[in-house]
Amino acid sequence: MAKYKIALIGGDGTGPEVLREAVKVVDAAAKRFGLSLDMHSYDFGGDRYLKTGEVLPDSAIVELRQFDAILLGAIGHPDVKPGILEKGILLRIRFELDQYINLRPVKLYEGVETPIKNKGPEDIDFAVVRENSSGLYTGVGGFVQKGTPHEIAVQQMIYTRFQVDRCLKYAFEYTRKRNKKKTLTLCGKTNVLTYVYDLWERAFHELGAKDYPEIKRDYAHVDATTMWMVKNPEWFDVIVTGNMFGDIITDLGAMVQGGMGVAAGGNINPEGVSMFEPIGGSAPKYTGQNVINPLACIFAGQMMMDHLGETGAANCIEKACAGFLASRKLKGMSAKEIKESGYSTTRIGDEVAELVATI
Ligand code: IPM
Ligand code: MN
Repeated sequence: MAKYKIALIGGDGTGPEVLREAVKVVDAAAKRFGLSLDMHSYDFGGDRYLKTGEVLPDSAIVELRQFDAILLGAIGHPDVKPGILEKGILLRIRFELDQYINLRPVKLYEGVETPIKNKGPEDIDFAVVRENSSGLYTGVGGFVQKGTPHEIAVQQMIYTRFQVDRCLKYAFEYTRKRNKKKTLTLCGKTNVLTYVYDLWERAFHELGAKDYPEIKRDYAHVDATTMWMVKNPEWFDVIVTGNMFGDIITDLGAMVQGGMGVAAGGNINPEGVSMFEPIGGSAPKYTGQNVINPLACIFAGQMMMDHLGETGAANCIEKACAGFLASRKLKGMSAKEIKESGYSTTRIGDEVAELVATI
């Protein structure tokens, strides 16, 4: 029996509620596919920080390295200054565990509404591979003459050839494995960021020509990418881009696929420990109300199983979610619409878990 050690970080706000449902569904899949999951919960988040002053102990990083994967609920607490938890927990885990890929599928399921007129599931099915460990996120920079009218603030976009190459390699491999349009689009800004995206562009074509001749290479500036994502999402198969652009276009992607209620992502270290999360926030105002949509976290669980190589379990979870959504039992993906539909966080988890067991 295949055995996996999974670390669970519920985090803040509604994070623990959605994580609980994801665990329910992943457990159902494990049962059905004969897998043994050894789960361990951690209480990192705003409440612990406010009580103890500790964001993430160093020992946690050492412990997290021992797991096969990490499943996260949400990070962000209304009583903690923005940045402390995001940097101290989320970004720290990404950096320390060298999760250098942020993979975000943008897929519209039957029964989910997209705000894009005249587009359906046949048009919206692509993925963004965001570089997740460098670029503008390195924190390299500083102030000079802070607080004066002559203040200077610098924050640098840093990329090494090594970082770009490993990200591109993942993106090409992923495009090959996906086996759909076999097209990888580099999203950059070569007309203005003439150093960083010049490096990306050269590396992209060198690697593509050498090792992935069957993958079509395409290029779009980031501003144009946002237009095409809305106007012609069907053009895309896989998009690869740097950290900051990736952060921005994946929120747009989440909206295109029907909102934060369904959007999930993976922070991936292909050679190490990866972490999966719903990409929405901690929705503090809904905490404890059992009304937030757990599907995004359930999809994160599906991505985790896929990453672990448990394709059968992953496909089963996806089928169950897709079936649930296609039944149109929910009027929409938001907390308000879930309430109006007579559903709750728990009930959605129960029904999807039931589908996983029987579908
Ligand atoms: C995301 C988030 C994070 C990021 C924040 C919370 C630091 O927006 O996962 O996209 O900017 O990467
Ligand atoms: Mn973001």
